[in-house]
Amino acid sequence: MKSPLSNRAVVLGITGSIASYKAVDLASKLVQAGAQVDVILSRGASQFVTALTFRSFTHRPVVTDLFDPDSELAVEHVALAQRAEIVVVAPATVHTIAKLALGLADDALTTTVLATQAPVLLAPAMDGRMYEHPATRENLHKLEERGVTVVGPAEGHLASGLRGWGRMVEPGELLGHIAAVLGHKGDLAGTTVVVTAGGTQEPLDPVRVLTNRSSGKMGYAVAEAARDRGARTVLVAAPTALTDPPAVEVHHVGTALEMGAAVAKLARGVAVLVMAAAVADYRPVETAPRKVKRGKQETWTVELTRTPDILMGVEGPRVKVGFAAETEDLLSNAREKLRTKGVDLFVANDVTSPGSGFGSDTNEVIILGRDGVVEKLPLMSKYEVAHRVLDRVAKLLPARR
Ligand code: C5P
Repeated sequence: MKSPLSNRAVVLGITGSIASYKAVDLASKLVQAGAQVDVILSRGASQFVTALTFRSFTHRPVVTDLFDPDSELAVEHVALAQRAEIVVVAPATVHTIAKLALGLADDALTTTVLATQAPVLLAPAMDGRMYEHPATRENLHKLEERGVTVVGPAEGHLASGLRGWGRMVEPGELLGHIAAVLGHKGDLAGTTVVVTAGGTQEPLDPVRVLTNRSSGKMGYAVAEAARDRGARTVLVAAPTALTDPPAVEVHHVGTALEMGAAVAKLARGVAVLVMAAAVADYRPVETAPRKVKRGKQETWTVELTRTPDILMGVEGPRVKVGFAAETEDLLSNAREKLRTKGVDLFVANDVTSPGSGFGSDTNEVIILGRDGVVEKLPLMSKYEVAHRVLDRVAKLLPARR
């Protein structure tokens, strides 16, 4: 399983905004992810960035003018609209948004948007006051009602020197939204997948916590993979250094008890629960209300109490998946947990093996099913592992309706 964008036909329309420079990065990221990118530059965009820039790394002709007889693609705009699996307009200026809302087709980009049957994603970029204007709000609302995905704008520093809502969403984040739109008809479409990730933190006092080495990468990869297969994806995240995955509903929690409460609420009646979080098995009986001072005593004894097992206690999900990080007896431990925790699949990994486990981008796992099927996978990216797990989940789901 490669990137969700590999070999996908993406038409990238760029309109005239100072944020056009970010479209260079977006196009580059799309190409690196394996997409076939056809760029359409509006006349305004050509004032900020050049066709040559995009042609250099998309290795494809760039459309600049609908009526340019020298352009190979200009007269083919309908072919481009037909070939597109998604049309992305980034940045989308207030003027282009207004044209699209009205259904005008006075240049290559608006014509393509009108002629395509593919999903359309807009990343608006504009001055904060223009964004707040009722005309803009109305136009965006109208486009969303027609099924257009509008991502952003974000809040922050604007070219005017002011701060406000109007910044184009960053290219890395847009990539996730594009993957989500492309995956909307995937095998998990119509289902909700709840994923937990990260290592919980159990406070000893307001500044100290008991935690573990989980980076959260495996759980985040599962959330992204579920999103890219069309699932409505909910991520319950214990503290990590990772940024929230785009197009995923993220709930941040701290402790095992908080995670348990969030899962009980969010996983009720859903199709799938994947518990990839490293949940504390024990937590301090008491949390000091103020920082515990370094005193005269040589030792500090902390009494711990067992946390409830979230996987075992949760009711509702049709398919439940557990993760086991082990340092010894991988298979027998995982088999035992599969039985006692009442889950459908258990993903076991030896966190001491090179390239596996904490902090790594790769993982070497064994997937054990209640059906007795044991899959030993070679070392692969956590995103690929996530898809292999979801392949098994997707097979189980039809029988659990
Ligand atoms: O027994 P162990 O902690 O190794 O089991 C790991 C699996 O159980 C993981 O899927 C983890 O998210 C889940 N777990 C849980 N509640 C706990 C501890 C672990 O759901 N209190």
